[in-house]
Amino acid sequence: MGQHPPLPPAARAAAEAACGPVELTEITDRRGSAVWKATGPDGHAAAVKVGYGDGLPVTTREGEVLRLLRRPDLLGAGTAAEASWLVTRWLDGPSTYKLFAPYRGGESGQEQALAAAVGLCRAVADLHAAGWIHSDLQPAHALHTPAGVQLIDLAWAWGPGFEPTNAFRGGIVHLLAPELAASINVGLTPITPSPAADVYALAGSLWTCVTGGWPLDYHAAGIDPHHLSPAQLRARISNRAAPLSPARPWPELQKPLRDVLLAPRSNRPTANELEDLLAAL
Ligand SMILES: Nc1ncnc2c1ncn2[C@@H]1O[C@H](COP(=O)(O)OP(=O)(O)OP(=O)(O)O)[C@@H](O)[C@H]1O
Ligand SMILES: [Mg+2]
Repeated sequence: MGQHPPLPPAARAAAEAACGPVELTEITDRRGSAVWKATGPDGHAAAVKVGYGDGLPVTTREGEVLRLLRRPDLLGAGTAAEASWLVTRWLDGPSTYKLFAPYRGGESGQEQALAAAVGLCRAVADLHAAGWIHSDLQPAHALHTPAGVQLIDLAWAWGPGFEPTNAFRGGIVHLLAPELAASINVGLTPITPSPAADVYALAGSLWTCVTGGWPLDYHAAGIDPHHLSPAQLRARISNRAAPLSPARPWPELQKPLRDVLLAPRSNRPTANELEDLLAAL
């Protein structure tokens, strides 16, 4: 866990305006970003995120993204002395990764898992249809609520009227599309994400939901990701040095994912097309 600064009073006030007096439960705190669940007396809850240090401008950016996206769950955002903050409604629902847990546990969870996969593709396709790119899709970055699938952690999202940022480094490296890894390493700036790179991360996220591991088999290629710099790991990814992991617990579902992960950018299906492929299973 990290070293978050005190919660800015304005962040608490934004949560309390929606929920009443809140109690805070820490959810995560790492890499300059901390998230709490703030719960009011009648059960209404908000997510409170504080960015500090290197994470300060990142959380500021996420607030701007939510504003531009007109996300109805945005309750407030601002910057205090040593922290930026963001308050959103608490989204009640499991992540995509969690919805695959019964399946991974060997229970008969295929129907639920497949519906979650299709729902995630739909949410990404809708975002793309609105002209936006998430840029950091992960198995935990979608919450499946009764009102639909909501994408979270939109700090690196990019859309109309939004300048790309030089701070973006491609999102989580294990789900980084090879062409994006290459462009980061050659130093092209600003680093511009694409819908196709989102689809790579989408398929990689679903692969991880199915297998419980990252899509690439670093070990088979003699790569220890923990002993490489980010640039060295990106070089391996851009060269496709590591094969796909051999785990094939669900071959029918993994076939279209495999095709996405191995295709060159120009041949990758869209999120919409991947949704159709999965819905047809
Ligand atoms: N609005 C929300 N409703 C419910 N849970 C949320 C909400 N926002 C964040 N969370 C929870 O907090 C976790 C961390 O949120 P988020 O990914 O936005 O922060 P982060 O600091 O970028 O974390 P990480 O470094 O793990 O990606 C999420 O995985 C989710 O469990
Ligand atoms: Mg996150």
